[in-house]
Amino acid sequence: MIIETEEELEGIKKVSEAVALTLHKMKAYTRTGMTTREIDEYGRQLLEGLGARSAPFETYGFPGYSCISVNQEFAHGVPSDKVILKDGDIINIDVSAELGRFWSDNGCSFIVGDDVQGLQHLVNTSQLILMEAIAQISGGVRINEIGKLIETRAKKAGYTVIRDLGGHGIGRSLHEEPSGIMNYHDRYDRVRGFRKDSVVAIETFISTKSAYIETAADNWGLTGSKGGFVAQHEHTILVTSGNPIILTAANGIM
Ligand code: CO
Ligand code: CO
Repeated sequence: MIIETEEELEGIKKVSEAVALTLHKMKAYTRTGMTTREIDEYGRQLLEGLGARSAPFETYGFPGYSCISVNQEFAHGVPSDKVILKDGDIINIDVSAELGRFWSDNGCSFIVGDDVQGLQHLVNTSQLILMEAIAQISGGVRINEIGKLIETRAKKAGYTVIRDLGGHGIGRSLHEEPSGIMNYHDRYDRVRGFRKDSVVAIETFISTKSAYIETAADNWGLTGSKGGFVAQHEHTILVTSGNPIILTAANGIM
């Protein structure tokens, strides 16, 4: 959406703070031995307490309140009683919600307990690239330039990017134009630029092996077509003529 009034700015700030605080607290709550269902239930209570409604639950009939993906699962993981977290698991929690008819989205990957799989560098790289990408965005910057930056940085660090997932416009619904804010340099995407006063969700998908995703057997979860692991970090931001305003800064990703 394009922010035109003070009320719209307040509305998008409020929902963004709600999803950011929820993600921050869910991350802090996560421990070895917990199930992803328990973490999701905690997130449900937090969102409810803030007066927000889970976006995947309300709009997609998702069987959970936040997407929680572990290890080989890359995204859209269904919270489950059967997934018990072990030391070294890489987990992604993605929280998106509606509040007062405004929508916001944020997510992060992190390691549970000790880093026995050696994936902390992947996590750090994804977070760093997200912040570098955001720092380059302002009104008029071409969307494919940001994809180029993400792809270049990931390759340099020895990783691949997922080519069929990306960021998106957001605000009056979960997914709006511009769609497909990709993690690679799309040379056919020559015209589109970020618009001043627009709200967009910027997200990384940095992988140790895969470049594409596949749908898992439960029809929700996404896995890498060549396996490996992925790290995702996501902020909802307001584009300005200078540095963007990171609306979900309260999630602690910086
Ligand atoms: Co998103
Ligand atoms: Co998200």
